[in-house]
Amino acid sequence: MGFILAAAGSAVGLGNIWGFPTQVASNGGAAFLFIYLLCAFAIGFPVMVAEITMGRKTGRNPVGAFKVLGNNKLVYSAIGMWGLICGVMILAFYTVIAGWTVSYVFEEVFFYLGMTDWASWISNTGNGPINAVFATVFMGATISIILGGVSDGIERATKFMMPLLLIILVVMIGYVVLQPGAGVGLEVYLFPDFSKVTPDLVLSAMGQAFFSLSLGMGALITYGSYLSKKENIPEAAAYVTLMDAFIAFLAGLLVIPTMYMAQAQGVPIFDDSGNLLASAALIFQVLPELFHEMGGLLGLIFGGTFFFLLSIAALTSTISLLEVPVSYAIDEHGLKRKSAATYIGGGVLAISLIISFDTSLIDHFVFIFNEIGLPLGGFLICLFLGYYWKTDNALAEMQEGYPTVMTSFFARVWPVFVKVIAPLAILYNLLSGLGII
Ligand code: PHE
Repeated sequence: MGFILAAAGSAVGLGNIWGFPTQVASNGGAAFLFIYLLCAFAIGFPVMVAEITMGRKTGRNPVGAFKVLGNNKLVYSAIGMWGLICGVMILAFYTVIAGWTVSYVFEEVFFYLGMTDWASWISNTGNGPINAVFATVFMGATISIILGGVSDGIERATKFMMPLLLIILVVMIGYVVLQPGAGVGLEVYLFPDFSKVTPDLVLSAMGQAFFSLSLGMGALITYGSYLSKKENIPEAAAYVTLMDAFIAFLAGLLVIPTMYMAQAQGVPIFDDSGNLLASAALIFQVLPELFHEMGGLLGLIFGGTFFFLLSIAALTSTISLLEVPVSYAIDEHGLKRKSAATYIGGGVLAISLIISFDTSLIDHFVFIFNEIGLPLGGFLICLFLGYYWKTDNALAEMQEGYPTVMTSFFARVWPVFVKVIAPLAILYNLLSGLGII
């Protein structure tokens, strides 16, 4: 249970509640949802099993795991290194956005107290110094948890946070769908228009699936290395995938109808070319409007709790992002946990501070490290496991916690996905999304 919670804590984060609805909005709704789910289950889930198994087999960080299984060959360690780089760059911008979730807790409080000037001042995501302060606070919190040892803190926080997040999402959805205008949003979100599917959209959906499931950069190799031999890996991975996709789905159910509800009240939600407006800050514009409209104490309770939970969800993700390079520095270079966490966390924060003053960088980071970097990492993991380490060896590792795995349906299907379907799909999407084919 602890592992599932920690892995789900890593998976469920800003990717689900900020990234997914924003992507759905800018990619025309249900068609994106459909492709996204396909990517999560057909590509993400097999890769997740691969990562966890490599981690548990070796008990090492991503670079170490590739070193051990790849017989010390540099080309293989480089795959782990690529994951490390992606993780560090993702952590850098993630920390800035996570800082916004904290500043919005204050925004809700100031708004409730009638201090609207303060509310808009503190929630101005274009304000460099404010971004820098909150990013620093957030990185500080992440480092301190990594220092204090992972398991207790994360497990306790996640156990309490996930159900609460779920409840508050469901209640808010219940409120929103009854408002005028929301029905149109539901339609846009749930009825796919497949003419909207372009190579670009598929690439975004795939990148989003990798990001949301924390795949392609070794976070789950690292977490897998802490997993007991008694655990059933495919089952654990299935829970994590389902939980993550479900929370993303709910977040879409909240945000898309809310946008249309806003439209019914005269707020413009389309750009000049008729696409839904979507900016990096979408979730930080639409939802606060909803909370303000609820008004009074109700607005404060919903808004404050929502952004607080979002901060916790982000924190359980930044922990897993920082844990990857930290465990690498400890295992491979003999650093103490304390210095590894402080130096690496501090170094990443330096990049976050640059991003704080130029948030337009976020889009570029997302494109390079999420949309391309993570699927590329996943592609290499599949090839390595499928053709070098071999799926039979991986299945043998799974057998410990899943005695009947060899004769299971899973053992017949998973290798095909790892060796053929997932890598081909990733390669095709990367090449066509980049306009190469
Ligand atoms: N999965 C996290 C989210 O959705 C982000 C993340 C990506 C965490 C990669 C770890 C590794 O917010």
